Amino acid sequence: MQRFSGKVALVTAGAQGIGEAVARRIAAEGGSVVITDLQQSKIEALAAELNGFAVPLDVTDREQVDAAVAATISRFGQLDVLVNNAGGCIVNSVPEDTTDEDWHRQLDLTLVGAARCIQASLPHLVKSRGNVVTISSVNGIAAFGNIEYATAKAGQIAMTQNFAARYGGLGVRFNVVAPGTIRTPNWDNQPDTLERFKALYPLGRVGESEDVAAAVAFLASPDAAWITGHTLPVEGGVLTGPGLLDLTPSGPFRKDYPTD
Ligand SMILES: NC(=O)c1ccc[n+]([C@@H]2O[C@H](COP(=O)([O-])OP(=O)(O)OC[C@H]3O[C@@H](n4cnc5c(N)ncnc54)[C@H](O)[C@@H]3O)[C@@H](O)[C@H]2O)c1
Repeated sequence: MQRFSGKVALVTAGAQGIGEAVARRIAAEGGSVVITDLQQSKIEALAAELNGFAVPLDVTDREQVDAAVAATISRFGQLDVLVNNAGGCIVNSVPEDTTDEDWHRQLDLTLVGAARCIQASLPHLVKSRGNVVTISSVNGIAAFGNIEYATAKAGQIAMTQNFAARYGGLGVRFNVVAPGTIRTPNWDNQPDTLERFKALYPLGRVGESEDVAAAVAFLASPDAAWITGHTLPVEGGVLTGPGLLDLTPSGPFRKDYPTD
């Protein structure tokens, strides 16, 4: 499939994990990728490999966001797809102790960061009749913990619906992908946690970055030309209910798949 032939996509936080997989997938389908991140050496290496364009970018800095979009336009003359991927769980306090500063930092990275990128990209997306895919999380849909992060992720969904309603008439689409647990460098220090989380997932495994990239590519492509304002969970079924539980005293996590 070459669904992105002649198209230009800007991916935030593209140095590793989900962002890297998205950049690889769009490039594999013929797109030109603008890979942005704080980690300059990693994005330069990836851009060299994918024949893309590396732009260092901190999404919490409006001037840098505006400059990254401007650099994209001077390099390629167009912008067709924005993938808002930057935004992780950066506040780990007990919710009762969360400070105003914690709230501001979490919302600034995950929610306002995505809003900044949309604002800077919009005039160009109107010209190209392009689209935005924002990476939220199952945490933005149901209660899986991390209250500040979850709130920011839910905000991305509401923001997407409102942009979709407002700019649909100008031909710009906005959608969300909401991943469950995905094996990325984010979890490198917690391999045991990833192993235990498998039991929560009806499909019996955690996700891979490529699972998310496939959904992003679908929503960003002409295959989703009449889909806007929606959230596509990519979550191994966890939102349908937990995987089979071990109801013995050693539970609740199951140890094996059912054999009969
Ligand atoms: N991994 C998961 O289990 C999971 C699940 C649901 C949603 N998500 C979401 O997917 C997205 C990517 O997650 P991941 O696990 O692939 O990430 P990761 O933790 O592997 O990488 C995060 C990247 O973000 C970059 N980054 C950090 N702050 C930044 C900033 N201010 N500006 C620009 N870039 C910045 C880092 O340099 C790094 O390359 C995030 O929005 C995350 O919330 C991840």
